[in-house]
Amino acid sequence: MANPTLLILAGDGIGPEVMAEVKRIITWYGDKRDMPFDVTEDLVGGCAYDKHGTPLHDDTMAKAQEVDAVLLGAVGGPAYDDLDFSVKPERGLLRLRKEMDLFSNLRPAQCFDALADFSSLKREIVAGLDIMIVRELTSGVYFGEPRGIHTEGNERVGVNTQRYTESEIARVARSAFELARRRNNRVCSMEKANVMESGVLWRQVVTEVHAKDYADVELSHMYADNGAMQLVRNPKQFDVIVTDNLFGDLLSDAAAMLTGSLGMLPSASLGLPMANGRPKALYEPVHGSAPDITGQGKANPIACILSFAMALRYSFDAGSEADRLEAAVEKVLADGARTADLLGPEGGSPISTTQMGDAILAALD
Ligand code: NAI
Ligand code: MG
Repeated sequence: MANPTLLILAGDGIGPEVMAEVKRIITWYGDKRDMPFDVTEDLVGGCAYDKHGTPLHDDTMAKAQEVDAVLLGAVGGPAYDDLDFSVKPERGLLRLRKEMDLFSNLRPAQCFDALADFSSLKREIVAGLDIMIVRELTSGVYFGEPRGIHTEGNERVGVNTQRYTESEIARVARSAFELARRRNNRVCSMEKANVMESGVLWRQVVTEVHAKDYADVELSHMYADNGAMQLVRNPKQFDVIVTDNLFGDLLSDAAAMLTGSLGMLPSASLGLPMANGRPKALYEPVHGSAPDITGQGKANPIACILSFAMALRYSFDAGSEADRLEAAVEKVLADGARTADLLGPEGGSPISTTQMGDAILAALD
């Protein structure tokens, strides 16, 4: 069977620095676990603009459509702040998400025991936390028509429209149920069916999809405002949460911060299954290009490394290999390895990006 294919788009700023560590880990899986990947690299963001005058070349877009998974570092930086909106680095990322039709955004909130004291919540509330928020990414109020600002009488009116079709709800619900089957088999769907018709439809469609194809998964429903409260009160009650674009934006940011540093947070964006059964997929850390620390060896590579662990689990059906990589991260943190962003107020001496990569590779061995 042909090797699985990966397109690496390291991007700008610390993107190439953290991706360098991921590349070593990909090589490790080929050498030590007999899981060779065919890796292609290309440009996205400011570096693509510098070379091609566009943040995403058509050839790169075409490659992204063909591979089994795309791994992205970060895009942007002060050098590109004054560019026209149409060629800004972020447009490259947005084009990838749009043309690959990545409607399901996965944001885990996972608390490594060694970092539990980093949380703004009490250790016992977050220790061992492992939940996944599935956010609908390509529809809802950020895209609905009509939209705009107009004048009525003598005042201005701002309009956005929450709009969901049945098929848009059904496909993200399926994505959440499929994930739940690879985790602890529980989905909580969040909307505001009490005050929004789109929420009423959301609840109906999720319930129908569940009854038809996923009755083995435990399903519950919650109003999103209560969901926000419950996330802070007792986050461990959840396994997979599925919600719309707007609520997912807020809930995933809040959940992520239950566990501490931006340098630790991975994400995945999934689309429809391809001919080989794998979903279209893009994996990336949540953080940006961090211009304030670029080129200093200070970047924490763990968010990018955990994004690759998500690729192993959700694109390559290698959940036990993902567990192995996450366990290696857990071990080095437990042993006290800390990049600068992971030092608490008591300080200590930080290790570099490469040293963190070394430690994780040693733990894998
Ligand atoms: P940022 O995430 O790049 O940085 C925020 C803060 O977190 C900085 O102090 C940075 O040093 C720190 N940080 C981020 N990642 C880290 C890591 N792996 N290890 C250690 N510290 C880390 O967000 P910011 O500063 O708002 O944006 C900087 C640039 O990145 C902008 O051009 C922005 O447009 C772009 N950006 C790109 C994103 C992407 O590629 N998906 C997402 C967010 C921002
Ligand atoms: Mg956000």
